[in-house]
Amino acid sequence: MPALARAAMPVLLLACCLSCSSGGAVASGAPDGAPGVGDRLLPEAGNGGYDVSHYGLDLSYDPVGGRLSGTAVVSATATQSVSRFDLDLSGLTVGAVTVDGRPAKFRRFGTELTVQPARQLTRGDRFQATVTYAGVPQLLTDADGSHEGWFRTDDGALALGEPVGSMAWFPGNDHPSDKAAYDITVSVPAGLSVVSNGELAGTTTAGGRTAFHWRVTAPMATYLATVGIGHYDVTRGRTRSGVPLYEAVDPRSDDPRTAAAVKRLPEILDWESTLFGPYPFASSGVVVDHLPRGLGGYALETQNRPSFPGDSGPPAVQLDTLVHELSHQWFGDWVTPASWQDIWLNEGFATYAEWLWTQHEGGTSVDRSAADAFAAEATWAFPPAAPPSAAELFAAPVYSRGALVLYELRRAMGDRAFSTLLRTWPAAHAGGTADTADFTAFAQRLTTHDLTPLLRTWLYGKAKPAHL
Ligand code: ARG
Ligand code: ZN
Repeated sequence: MPALARAAMPVLLLACCLSCSSGGAVASGAPDGAPGVGDRLLPEAGNGGYDVSHYGLDLSYDPVGGRLSGTAVVSATATQSVSRFDLDLSGLTVGAVTVDGRPAKFRRFGTELTVQPARQLTRGDRFQATVTYAGVPQLLTDADGSHEGWFRTDDGALALGEPVGSMAWFPGNDHPSDKAAYDITVSVPAGLSVVSNGELAGTTTAGGRTAFHWRVTAPMATYLATVGIGHYDVTRGRTRSGVPLYEAVDPRSDDPRTAAAVKRLPEILDWESTLFGPYPFASSGVVVDHLPRGLGGYALETQNRPSFPGDSGPPAVQLDTLVHELSHQWFGDWVTPASWQDIWLNEGFATYAEWLWTQHEGGTSVDRSAADAFAAEATWAFPPAAPPSAAELFAAPVYSRGALVLYELRRAMGDRAFSTLLRTWPAAHAGGTADTADFTAFAQRLTTHDLTPLLRTWLYGKAKPAHL
């Protein structure tokens, strides 16, 4: 879907020519779509030349062999005339690609799947690219050493993709600036379940297999897409304000603290709605699963239904992490960073939400949490608005120094204007994307106090301020 009010990203024609130059298809007139959107931290993430409106994934999974197969129908609009365009896809084998039903040439190069339609695309053309693919999806290692992509579990799988893990299981425009609707259908051996984003639109069982169809109507970034396959205890319910819940918990997550945390989800969601505005999506819930030991996946704010991959050790769901991931539904999922360097807009808010919750529960005050964050050396490694590399996207300054920016804004703007900020910022970019400059301009409009010096010190400044 078009990123709201966003200028076109720079087009990396040169990089594309390099990636496409290894023989094969002949270019015809129009240039190639870029192999990345030009993200400063992840230059190859996403692609240029088109904007996706819908992903139709029709997949089949065999938990014994770990094989995934099926088709991805990517519905998009050309944003420039192109003779070739890229999709992001890591591993897997592509059997065929068609564009609007006509066979297309394609080539793989690293994580780029370059598609040359039979007929070149003209700016404004709507088209459908259908990719037939299969294979054993891989786990990717991020710049920070963490794993993402497709985790095999002993009874199925769990997909987690921040920042670029979705390309391990479907071809797409893997960058947060291009949000889309989804229909995700996965067929599994009867007896297993599939949980994903959005709402369950139906299940069909035939020939010893059950297909689960999940429908995501609200725009969703690729990094927020998930699928969980396995045995789950499913609880359906509603929050007091009426949000339908679908909670899928691995039956082996038997630490009572997990159950106790999940039980409070409706209360947390309603509490967050009073602070951040009405819950933006049609349903909520959780996916709690067990990963093989030692892989150390991260909890992730997968849209509608945050994922909690427990391994050995602590309970799969901790209360403060649940508060954190649910707050991301507003900050990250509903209003999504336009590029990866804006990630503090996600993690700073989610950390601040944890501070608010802890105080609300009668624990550490927000002032104390801020003082602790201020005192920690790791907080000051770099300014939150400028992570130096992809390896630092999820480092302490993004979280705790990001939260300190909000803490300082509240002090400068006053409680009233700040609570308006918390409530109206997600709504101002409803279902879209926004960057740091959008946010600072938005905050400035809510107060007569000049925020420039504060932002220079807390958001952009390298040095640690003298005091809180
Ligand atoms: N967004 C997740 C959270 O803080 C963290 C994702 C971490 N990803 C990573 N590649 N380290 O809720
Ligand atoms: Zn987070």
